[in-house]
Amino acid sequence: MSLKDDKYRNDPPQTIRIGKIEPTGEPCEEFYPGPAAMIIFGASGDLARRKIMPALFKLTRSKILTENFFIMGMARTEMDSDSFRRMIEAALREAGGFDEAIWERFSKKLYYKTVDYTDIKALEEAGRLIAEKERAHGTNGNRIFYLATPPSVYEGIIESIKASGLSGNGENQARVVIEKPSGRDLESARALDSVVLRNFTEEQVFRIDHYLGKETVQNILMLRFANAIFEPLWNRRYIDHVQITVAETNGIEKRAGYYEQAGVLRDMFQNHILQVLALAAMEPPSIYDPELVRDEKIKVLRALRPVPLNEINNWLVLGQYVEGEVDGRLVPGYREEEGVAKDSEVPTYAAMKLFIDNWRWQDVPFYIRSGKRLNKRFSEVAIQFKSVPHRLFRETLKEDIGPNTLILKIQPEERIQLRFHTKNPGSRVCLRDVFMDFSYTEGYKGLTLGAYERVLLDCMLGDKTLFVRKDGAELSWAFLTPMLDFIESGYAGAPEVNLYRAGSSGPVEADKFITREGRSWRDDG
Ligand code: BG6
Repeated sequence: MSLKDDKYRNDPPQTIRIGKIEPTGEPCEEFYPGPAAMIIFGASGDLARRKIMPALFKLTRSKILTENFFIMGMARTEMDSDSFRRMIEAALREAGGFDEAIWERFSKKLYYKTVDYTDIKALEEAGRLIAEKERAHGTNGNRIFYLATPPSVYEGIIESIKASGLSGNGENQARVVIEKPSGRDLESARALDSVVLRNFTEEQVFRIDHYLGKETVQNILMLRFANAIFEPLWNRRYIDHVQITVAETNGIEKRAGYYEQAGVLRDMFQNHILQVLALAAMEPPSIYDPELVRDEKIKVLRALRPVPLNEINNWLVLGQYVEGEVDGRLVPGYREEEGVAKDSEVPTYAAMKLFIDNWRWQDVPFYIRSGKRLNKRFSEVAIQFKSVPHRLFRETLKEDIGPNTLILKIQPEERIQLRFHTKNPGSRVCLRDVFMDFSYTEGYKGLTLGAYERVLLDCMLGDKTLFVRKDGAELSWAFLTPMLDFIESGYAGAPEVNLYRAGSSGPVEADKFITREGRSWRDDG
């Protein structure tokens, strides 16, 4: 048998457990927010039912939320508080983790008022109801306004909150939570910001990006800056490229109205992916402080090299799913989804190359991609290091040794993996590819918070580290808007939307693109 026959190449990488993880010390102390009323606009909608309410319920179950708290749901849908409670109860049961005793307490904090968002009289009336509940729940006039409506009505709501006096008399500082997308391009984002900042100060505004609330995303900074071993390698000398992937098996669910206006670039790139990229690429701030962290992220966004539109097809691949099988189930193509135009050109997949023009990252490509209805659901940041400079084992092994990769897995599991090579036990010189693997939840007994729970809690605590600042949101739009304009102009040379089968790994054009780059996409191995 030749040496080649038993080389590691044919075997999948093995995983090395890094041993039993003993938590060192007690779980971190949790912070508890003070009294507050949460006023949710769009409370009858999908976002409130699927994300916000389950998160608030879990915070109640975890005993994090103060007793002095209540929720006033507001929306155009005709309903009274009892019907609202029934609707929320059904949503919470569906979300899982329902608990009768907690519901008993939680439901007593739920109210609803039907309003037309621009009807100042109706909002003044709602204000009187809120004031009455504030006395009953002892929330001291602290109000958080959550905009969970379609973005088209954000500006109207902001103006109405102020005009109706809902935002209070200045003694207590109201907070406004704005869900993405804040605008659909640079101009509309600026227009929205100017309305928001005419009525509130930037300090009062919390632009949510729930990706920043995910544990592994937050951990990027801890991993990089609390360890001495990564940062010396975290640059163009040692890193070949970075891949950031958000792959979903879901389609657009019931959100055609929104998605037809957005597409994957606005839905995932402008916010989640660019935010994760900024954390992975930023310089260390002098101290872990919300404003200083955000300053550093912004410098990354400012350094993004504009994609040259005349050769955009070498930088960007778009796709849209057609009928196929996902998780053993036949699913319709995007154009067959309810509410989607039969000839829609909206992309549900994109892969893009980008560069950060600064000292640390010059000429290191970042490949970012996201798509719906793919074969796997996984989100990760993969740092691929350069290959060894000298092929010491070339005679013995014949093949090149693969590069080291550090993978920060965001979901479905939260892990950190380092891929490296070791000698296979035995008499011959042969290598094997292994993963050193760390799971977040292993050995940890304390409370874990989901992304929405984390960001809602931070909003109540007034910690802005995980929220997007005005300049950050605008810089992301400034980067994407020329591309969006070009794509949507239909000009010759604009990228085409390639079709891919639901349940596949994306359009073949994306594979050709990465092959042309001399690289390959990481699979969730
Ligand atoms: C949302 C997007 O912001 O994030 C959705 O609008 C997407 O289209 C979702 O499915 C993904 O979030 P998560 O937490 O499920 O990865």
